[in-house]
Amino acid sequence: MNQAVDPQHLDKQLHKLFGEDTYSEGPLAASGAGRRFVGLDMCRRLNPKQVTFLLDALSQFRIISIAGQDLTTFSLAHFERFANHWGVPVPHPNNFLRGGKPAQADGDSDGPFELISFEKRRISAVNLTFPDQLQCLSHQSPTVLVVSNFSGKITGEQDSNRPVQVSRGGSWHTDIEYEPLPIYVSMFLVHQSPVSRNALGGNWVGVPDSANPYLEGSSDELMQRRMRLPLNGETAFADTAAAFAALPLSEQPALEQIQLRRRLNQPDEGWLAPLVRTNPRSGIKSFHSPIWASRPRVRPPVEVDGMSESESRAFLDQLEEHVLQEQFRYDHLHQPGDITLWDNYMTLHNSPPTKVNIDSVDDARLLYRLSCKGEPALSLPRNDTPGWLKTHIVGGYATPAEIINIDGEM
Ligand SMILES: [Fe+2]
Repeated sequence: MNQAVDPQHLDKQLHKLFGEDTYSEGPLAASGAGRRFVGLDMCRRLNPKQVTFLLDALSQFRIISIAGQDLTTFSLAHFERFANHWGVPVPHPNNFLRGGKPAQADGDSDGPFELISFEKRRISAVNLTFPDQLQCLSHQSPTVLVVSNFSGKITGEQDSNRPVQVSRGGSWHTDIEYEPLPIYVSMFLVHQSPVSRNALGGNWVGVPDSANPYLEGSSDELMQRRMRLPLNGETAFADTAAAFAALPLSEQPALEQIQLRRRLNQPDEGWLAPLVRTNPRSGIKSFHSPIWASRPRVRPPVEVDGMSESESRAFLDQLEEHVLQEQFRYDHLHQPGDITLWDNYMTLHNSPPTKVNIDSVDDARLLYRLSCKGEPALSLPRNDTPGWLKTHIVGGYATPAEIINIDGEM
């Protein structure tokens, strides 16, 4: 067995670096992906050896969960500081304006960059839904995406008397694959996960009957695989490293040569990006976003270099059908206090169906997401140049020093 994935060796390292009370569990997925680490306190500043351990773990396991952070002490500032080790946290389009317009209003991404304060963000409505029971952790950072299923009742867009409904899940994707430097790592901090299980089969929700988000024309088999989503608020993952490794050795070299033309908007010339990536730490090969149209009607479909539009679609639909097979799938159940990270080059993911118009906190799902670009950093602060930040990070954002030095240590 590879020493890096030998559980005994892994736990020995864990004890040495994080203390005797720590342990790990896994694999979480049948494909071999996923590892949970227990007993690690991320309020503490990480040293370079600890960071190296965690980077290596993600490069091997594709998804890792650092369980059980105490949310009375672990803040979103701690979370953003932690994220800085994985790359530069990227401002989310919900949290800023470009040229006075919501950043996701259309394809253009120029115009002056202006932060929206938390109080003015749509998501601040979550604090009014269960005022005595559940409040967002305080923050102003533009990098924190609040993911919740209960921001509607006081916005006036949803009638507070409307019955609880089940929304459909999203479409399979990786985060921000449509920019020349894609998102490398994304992570959730879990604040609240639904605990009620009153749907058919003892699940949180039943299978939604609403329309699917995909473009017409995919095979029935692919549609079935896409639509089979978890029913307890789990994030759905597909392991694109295991999916690549499962293909015959004779087919792999040709796939490694394939380039995809990605573009932000339909008229753009776009750029070429490899379909298969090799993880620089573990050497594991994986498909990066092997999907023809992962953001239907929002971003243009990709083209396989050297193929026509219809050939591109046929090829990528077949690949997506392969990757979404049961043996490469993993539904990650969220538990409060967990930090769960995934490598976007080595996985696909999808959001599950959720209850909306909820009136019980037992149905609340509240997560915070950060996403990072660029190279990892063993120690902080990072030393990205202003030029690099300006080119790759919207608004040239870098985490402020007061967050990096949150505990006053240097
Ligand atoms: Fe996503």
